[in-house]
Amino acid sequence: MATLPQPTTPTLLQNIHWIARPHEFLERNAAELGTTFRVNIANPKGLIWTSDPALIQEILTQDENGRYTAPGEVNVTLAPLLGDRSMIMLSGSEHRRHRKLTMPAFHGERMRAYTEAILSATRKAFGRIPSGDIFMTRAVMQEITMDVILTAVFGLQADDRGNDRFARIKPIVTNMLDMLASPLSVSVLFFPILQQDWGTWSPWGRFLEQRKQLDTLLFAEIADRRANPDPSRNDVLNMLLDTRDEDGETLTDDELRDELMTMLFAGHETTATALAWATYWIHNDRQIYANLIDELGMIDIDADPMTVFRLPYLTAVCNETLRIYPVAMLTFPRTPIEPLEFGGYPIAPGDLLMASIYLLHHNPTIYPDSKTFNPDRFLDRQYSPFEFMPFGAGSRRCLGMALAQFEMKLVLAALLQGWTLELAEKTPVVPQRRGVTLGPKGGVLAKLTGVRSARVQQSAAAIVG
Ligand code: HEM
Repeated sequence: MATLPQPTTPTLLQNIHWIARPHEFLERNAAELGTTFRVNIANPKGLIWTSDPALIQEILTQDENGRYTAPGEVNVTLAPLLGDRSMIMLSGSEHRRHRKLTMPAFHGERMRAYTEAILSATRKAFGRIPSGDIFMTRAVMQEITMDVILTAVFGLQADDRGNDRFARIKPIVTNMLDMLASPLSVSVLFFPILQQDWGTWSPWGRFLEQRKQLDTLLFAEIADRRANPDPSRNDVLNMLLDTRDEDGETLTDDELRDELMTMLFAGHETTATALAWATYWIHNDRQIYANLIDELGMIDIDADPMTVFRLPYLTAVCNETLRIYPVAMLTFPRTPIEPLEFGGYPIAPGDLLMASIYLLHHNPTIYPDSKTFNPDRFLDRQYSPFEFMPFGAGSRRCLGMALAQFEMKLVLAALLQGWTLELAEKTPVVPQRRGVTLGPKGGVLAKLTGVRSARVQQSAAAIVG
């Protein structure tokens, strides 16, 4: 049987290329090797990446077909950040247990409860920006998504009964993310040999120090909440403290801490990056902007968030944003349980297979003219879950998918109804690695040019105080 095609460049160069210019690395290999190939990255046996929808379906429906597993232990790269009890690091029944306990908090029906947190965070962040000043959209979106995740998931609020953890957690998480943002600094996760703790003047030492401070705050919050249960609170942590598996067991403090870290890191930067991209695409094309303004009309977002969530053109714009430069370029790996044939190639247990979301979304047979931002493609055609999958699929599909989609739409609607803005740079924005995500280089510089709605502006002024 044929062996899987692979690049001829030396392993070190492949790793450097992948870390420094990930989308180019993906594209070059796809052009030379086709839809399915092996690269010598991360793992001694390398990684197998595919952008063939049929093969993606084969590996991601492992729970149904019983031929593959989704091993958590191979995601150890993220353990220093998330802890080893995070669902991302767990496999099999333990993984299922954590998913089952956390899923209800992210179910579509719960989204309405997060409306106020999302809208007030958006109006507060944009209401603070002086008209005419140039700002970095990604930074503003990060502020918003951080506030949302802290209020919705952790139940922490700026004025939380004299509890200042909100204010203390924010800068630590931002620092930790910034520390891992550049291609050079994120190498520390990919190459464990670089994880040397030489005190706070060494990058890894500083990272560990920040993590310790964050742990202290999270454990203190968990202890407080266990000591003073308050059933009236409507947040994810409250649900998790109460939730029990079939044996009546709740999550331990360590498990809770790791899952809170996971939600904080998986749910904050990703959504902010998607929002920065969406703001860019919307303001880069007058027609797309006009279509959205038209569709939003006079909808009262606060009273009717579900109408906003269901708007077809806004949905198409969000989908196209997540298609063209998917924030997550790959799914987590899956591995076969027994030796088998995969697209005509032999594979064996221990081989790590990943769906290349980026290459799938640029597969020319599914998306003609894939480099053009065109929301209409989502109005003209229905894509299968294995053709369009910014949130992955199967047993590890993104836990926060409903929240991310709801949040994207509400933030964009509040921004478009409340303010006008223009891009500050005329040159096209290109993608660049930021940590483990693919974000807009430069963060999308923009400036506010006006206020659209007096009602929204008033409530922004009230929120900013
Ligand atoms: C636009 C925003 C987001 C994108 C593009 C995104 C994308 C993804 C992708 C591609 C995966 C891997 C799926 C797989 O391997 O099949 C994933 C997993 C995950 N995401 Fe998201 N995500 C986003 C927002 C969020 C939010 C808001 C949260 C939580 C609050 C979240 C929590 C998670 C968790 C916990 C996992 C791991 C699931 C597991 O291992 O079972 N994500 N996400």
